Amino acid sequence: MNAQIVLLPGDGIGPEVVAEARRVLEKVAARFGHQFEFSSHPIGGNAIDNFGDPLPQSTLDACRKSAAILLGAVGGPKWDDPTAKTRPEAGLLKIRKELGLFANLRPITAQECLLDSSPLKREVVQGTDILFVRELTGGIYFGESGLTKQTDGSETAFSSMTYSTSEIERVVRVAAQAARGRKGRLTSVDKANVLEVSRLWRRTTERVMREEFPDVKYDVVLVDAMAMHLISRPSTFDVVVTGNLFGDILTDEGSMLPGSMGLLPSASVGSDGPGLYEPIHGSAPDIAGQGIANPLATILAAAMMLRHSLKLEAEAVAIEQAVQSVLDAGLRTRDIAPRGTPGIGTVAMGEAVLASLK
Ligand code: IPM
Ligand code: MG
Repeated sequence: MNAQIVLLPGDGIGPEVVAEARRVLEKVAARFGHQFEFSSHPIGGNAIDNFGDPLPQSTLDACRKSAAILLGAVGGPKWDDPTAKTRPEAGLLKIRKELGLFANLRPITAQECLLDSSPLKREVVQGTDILFVRELTGGIYFGESGLTKQTDGSETAFSSMTYSTSEIERVVRVAAQAARGRKGRLTSVDKANVLEVSRLWRRTTERVMREEFPDVKYDVVLVDAMAMHLISRPSTFDVVVTGNLFGDILTDEGSMLPGSMGLLPSASVGSDGPGLYEPIHGSAPDIAGQGIANPLATILAAAMMLRHSLKLEAEAVAIEQAVQSVLDAGLRTRDIAPRGTPGIGTVAMGEAVLASLK
């Protein structure tokens, strides 16, 4: 297969981890006889610095023409000025919206060999294997917002959470389909006891599930209760679908369950066109440039990319197995190393994965 892959290294540790994922993809291409053509483009803070725009038009054009996109991370304290004209995060929100990437898949899987690095007790987290499906192009992130100055000088601001029937239906379908290929259970998370928008979410979800997915076991949980269940009984969930803001918060909470965010990939997909793949962790400016970041989440994101956008299942599995075997062999970057041990560096971890690729 020939495929154009766009790399968006971004800020902080982004370039370091994307470089390792690229090497893994190159080796997979060579092993399986594919031609992957890579091109790198600016996004985020570095794009603001060099082009005055966190998502330059040339980057967006390249993404549209690609088969898939691999992103490192965006943002950092350098661009945190609240009075700045734009922010790195705006680039990420815009690319999601422009490419119609309405479904964000965030698998949270507890690895047996890392259970002791979880902040939760081993027996609580053991067996956890959740797929979060977060709505990504709607809700409060993209609803109407405004700021008004009162005559007394004080200010009032609002951001509204808006969902339409079709926005809810399409993301629920993605989640329910995914559940069919897993344990066949879907949990929808909302705040229907308070929010009108959540009542529409619940009604719509219930109808889609009843009419189109009667074979998928379905339940609903309020978002505040979900925050609690996620740490008291994480292993009881299969697929979880929720709106943009609730999903943002719950997936950060969930990302701590397996012990490190450094292992978690994510995929943002639409109904067609290229998908965007990235690690869940951010740009980690505190460790950027030191060569100690964990590249495994980005490498696993590359595997998701092969599976979802390029339909290369065997190749995706090969990467996942290689990652599993380096973990089983006891190799650890600092973030997952036992306390007091230094762990290996980013490049060494990338090389270990390359060496274990079957
Ligand atoms: C995420 C991030 C982004 C979000 C930020 C960086 C805009 O937290 O992907 O979860 O809020 O969606
Ligand atoms: Mg987030």
